[in-house]
Amino acid sequence: MDTESALRSGLTSTPKYIPVWYRYDKAGSIFNDRCLSDNTYYYFYSSEMYILTSNIKEILPNVSEVPHLVDMGSGNSEKTRGFIDSLLVNHDTVTYIPVDISKDFLADTSYQLSEIYGNKLLIKSIPGDYDVGIERLRDVTGLKIITWLGGGFQNQKYQDQIRRLQMLSEVMTDRCRLIVSLDITQEKEQVENAYLDPTGISADLYLNAITRLNMEYGCDIKTDSLRLGAEFTKSSVPEETSYVTLFGTSQHDQQHSIPGLGININLAKDERLYFHEGKGVSCKYTIDQIRTLASRAGIYLANYWTDNNKHVAVCYFSKGKT
Ligand SMILES: C[S@@+](CC[C@H](N)C(=O)[O-])C[C@H]1O[C@@H](n2cnc3c(N)ncnc32)[C@H](O)[C@@H]1O
Repeated sequence: MDTESALRSGLTSTPKYIPVWYRYDKAGSIFNDRCLSDNTYYYFYSSEMYILTSNIKEILPNVSEVPHLVDMGSGNSEKTRGFIDSLLVNHDTVTYIPVDISKDFLADTSYQLSEIYGNKLLIKSIPGDYDVGIERLRDVTGLKIITWLGGGFQNQKYQDQIRRLQMLSEVMTDRCRLIVSLDITQEKEQVENAYLDPTGISADLYLNAITRLNMEYGCDIKTDSLRLGAEFTKSSVPEETSYVTLFGTSQHDQQHSIPGLGININLAKDERLYFHEGKGVSCKYTIDQIRTLASRAGIYLANYWTDNNKHVAVCYFSKGKT
């Protein structure tokens, strides 16, 4: 679905929503980076960094063949740089394939990486949606190490998680590794504080969806007319996940014309506008739920590494049983 159709569909549905990926233009990517560095309630970043740096040799063992390093939702590529450095210890060059919907930010990051690594890093960026990226991987032969870091995977609808894992398994051989970081935190207060931090740093990231909509489609929705909220819903059913809902509650009745989308919308007082599709975002998993997700996609959870606080599991999925 193209951007306009997705926005039109979300803003005219009940309840109304803006897809989660729409917040990631260049400004959104910069806000995302600020959440990582400045939001002290966001446990995911420090836990994931700790796991990756402490276990990189196990997560990415030596391979004789030069692999292609694929980075799904690459963002600032900070964490993947650990993978690049590790591969360059044993190989003269690495082919790096970052996939990201935030096209300008991807171009900037790719340029910065080329300045750092020079001709040791062959960068083949794929600007676009995850599906576009996975399709393009069909043409990439040889060993692939595919990373999906920073919580981007869990921001998709559950059915899309299964579908995209299935698609990835089709472009993997038995020797390929898929490394996905997943949130395993189950404590309500910790989760809600992480996603809507009391210091207010994360608000700019969610509200960027509104700012971008105003700018690109000619409307004038005031960001301060929406009161932000985050709610954690827990589930231990193996075929489900826990999740967060993120929304803005309209502070008064408001009507908006959105000329670029050819629609008018009403937001009633106390009506919620969600910042994601589906029933929730930022899924949280038990290990049992991760195994179930993998098996529904026809792949295997071959190993996983966690931090001491059990916030994050960096998961290694394989196509065949190892
Ligand atoms: C939570 S950030 C993670 C960034 C980075 N991997 C990290 O570890 O910090 C998610 C990234 O995925 C990208 N993204 C979100 N939805 C996407 C989609 N549907 N297709 C491609 N990229 C997407 C965003 O632009 C953003 O860079």
